[in-house]
Amino acid sequence: MKNFKPKAWLLPQPVVIIGTYDADGTPNAMNAAWAGQWDMNEIMISLGSHATTENLNRCSDFTVSFATVDTMVGADYVGIVSGKKVHDKVEKAGWKSVKGENVNAPIFSCFPITMECRIKEKLFESESGFYLIGEIVNIVCDEAYLAEDGKPDVEKMQLITFDPVHNGYIALGNRVGNAFHDGTALK
Ligand SMILES: Cc1cc2nc3c(=O)[nH]c(=O)nc-3n(C[C@H](O)[C@H](O)[C@H](O)COP(=O)(O)O)c2cc1C
Repeated sequence: MKNFKPKAWLLPQPVVIIGTYDADGTPNAMNAAWAGQWDMNEIMISLGSHATTENLNRCSDFTVSFATVDTMVGADYVGIVSGKKVHDKVEKAGWKSVKGENVNAPIFSCFPITMECRIKEKLFESESGFYLIGEIVNIVCDEAYLAEDGKPDVEKMQLITFDPVHNGYIALGNRVGNAFHDGTALK
C-alpha cells in the first residue's frame, strides 16, 4: 500500500450542473463536484465565490442536473468559464433551457434528470462562498430515460463522474447488482 497526504479524493464524485438566473434573467450554469445528499429531501454543495453564488444571494432558487457523456464538453466549459466574464456562457455551451415550473431557475433540456431546488440554509458564509443546504422541491426526468416501472432509469443516462486524482471524467458503467439484497447471500 502507498500512503498519500489528505486530498479531496472522496470517490466517486458527481458532476453536478447548477442552474441559476443572472440579474437580467440570463441563464447561467456551473460545474460542481463537491456535492452530495444531505438528508432525505436535501442536498449539499460546497460553493466558492462565483457568478452562481451572486445569483443565489439574489434568488435562492436553483436547479441541479447531472452531466452525461454527451454533455461532458459543455459541462467542463461551464466549470472553467465564469458568467462574470462570459455572460452568455450557457448559449456558448449550446444548451437550451426553460424556466422550472416550481422554481425560478433554468432547466437545461440536454440533461436526462434535473432537481428543482431552493436554498434552505447557508453554512459558514464568507467572502469565499458558503456550504449550501438545498431543499429538493421537485425532480423532472425526460421520459426517454424512464424505466418500465415509470421511475428514472439511471443506467440509461450515461452519467459521468469526476476523477479528482487525474482531473478526468469517467463514464459510469453497467448495473452489477441489487442493493439491500445481494449481500444477503452472505448472511
Ligand atoms: C470538475 C469541476 C468541478 C468543480 N467543482 C466545484 C465545486 O464543487 N464548487 C465550486 O464552488 N466550484 C467548482 N468548480 C468551479 C466552477 O464550476 C467554476 O469556477 C465556474 O466557472 C463558476 O461559474 P460561474 O462564475 O458562472 O458561476 C468546479 C469546476 C470543475 C471543472
